[in-house]
Parts: sequence; C-alpha cells; structure tokens
Amino acid sequence: MDIPAAGAERAKYAAAKKAMEFVKPGMTIGLGTGSTAFYFVALLGEEVAKGLKVLGVPTSTRTREQAHSLHIPLATLEDVDGLDIVVDGADEFDPDRNLIKGGGAALLQEKLVAMAAERMIVISDDSKEVEALGAFPLPVEVVRFGWKGTGHRIEQVLADADVEGREISLRMAVDQPLVTDEGHYIFDLHLKRIGDAPALAQALKELVGVVETGLFIDIAKNVIIGEPDGSVREF
Ligand code: 5RP
Repeated sequence: MDIPAAGAERAKYAAAKKAMEFVKPGMTIGLGTGSTAFYFVALLGEEVAKGLKVLGVPTSTRTREQAHSLHIPLATLEDVDGLDIVVDGADEFDPDRNLIKGGGAALLQEKLVAMAAERMIVISDDSKEVEALGAFPLPVEVVRFGWKGTGHRIEQVLADADVEGREISLRMAVDQPLVTDEGHYIFDLHLKRIGDAPALAQALKELVGVVETGLFIDIAKNVIIGEPDGSVREF
C-alpha cells in the first residue's frame, strides 16, 4: 500500500500502523468500518500475504468486501467464541474513551463486535478528539416499522436531556432513507454538546423502536491518535 504523504490520511495511516502492534498470530480480530479502519485492514492484509495467520470478523458489508479481496480469513460473530481485539475508527472520543460512532452507518454491528472482543482499540486522527461528546451528530439506529413514532419518542427524551441542541434528522441515501446492513433506519441527533452521555445512552435505549445508539460508553480500552506528521499518541 502507498503510504499517504501528509495530512489527515497520513494521520489515519499512522494510527492504523501503530494498532498493528497489538496483532499477534492466531488472534481473532474485529475489523472496523470507515476510512481509518480501511488502513488497518489493508495493513493486516499485507501481513496475511506474508504468512500471518489470523481470523477476521468484519463489522460491515464494506469491510467484509475489502478483507475478502485481501484474502484475510473471515468468520462471522456466530462462528467464534469471542474476539481478542477489535480495531475500529470513531467519529468522536472524549478523555474517558467514550465514543460516538456510526457516521458510516455500521454502529450496530460495530458495537456487537466490540462487545464480543476482549479489547477495543480505537484508531483516529486528532480531529475526533473532544472534551465533551456531541458536536458530531449522534446516530441512533431504529427499526423501520413505526419509525416516525420512534422519532417523536426520541424528541421527548431530548426535551429532558442535558444537551444543547435537539434537532433530529432521518439519514438519507440520496432521496431515500438510508437502510443499514441490518435493515434499519438511522436518526442523527444534532445535540452540539452532551452533558451526561451514559444517561442519554440509557434513556434512548429504553425507547421502543430504538435498536442501538452510537454512544460507546466504557467499551474502548485504547485510543491511538495519529498526527499529520506520522507520529502517534496513545491513551
Ligand atoms: C462507522 C464508524 C466509523 O468508525 C466512523 O464513522 C469513523 O470513520 P472514519 O474513520 O472514516 O472517520 O463508526 O459506522
């Protein structure tokens, strides 16, 4: 793979390269989704081509296609007892390693894979680093049946929540609602700042029609941040 020369792509590549240090022969590895995880899967594919034996569990159709094209041996979550690590991107992360994910609409499979893994490693450029989550719209995956009513229930939760914005929008794919890999819709919640992310995650999860939220609370164990000069930080 060509190494990006500079800028955000170089930063993403650097984070992905650092995450490769967690990879050991024989591991079962969750493969994240998005432009940063893309670099990790590409680097893993290079090592597999050189003889590394690992098993990958993709978090989306997109990632499955990429990993398959690189001849990484693949399994589904049902095929394995658990995963050693998952390496994935994020849309935001805070100092407690809480995350917003789902910008790429893969949050449900990403969370299921993360919950099955012993260690979730987040890879990112520094643009995703925030003091408090919420500037990035929070994705909430909902079943299609009755989606408008679910949207109203989400608005009612937001009315009482510790947030600065309360707009919600149904995510579109051109002129149709976007449908996730699991056949659901996504609402994006434009909250600006979330005061109490764990409380909001819990309140949203209790709503009928909500399948999952993009808030990943107390799940990530490592965050690796790449910089445009190719250096990395980790916490
Ligand atoms: C997909 C995700 C991605 O990990 C997140 O959107 C980050 O993507 P990128 O690395 O392209 O910025 O949660 O659902």
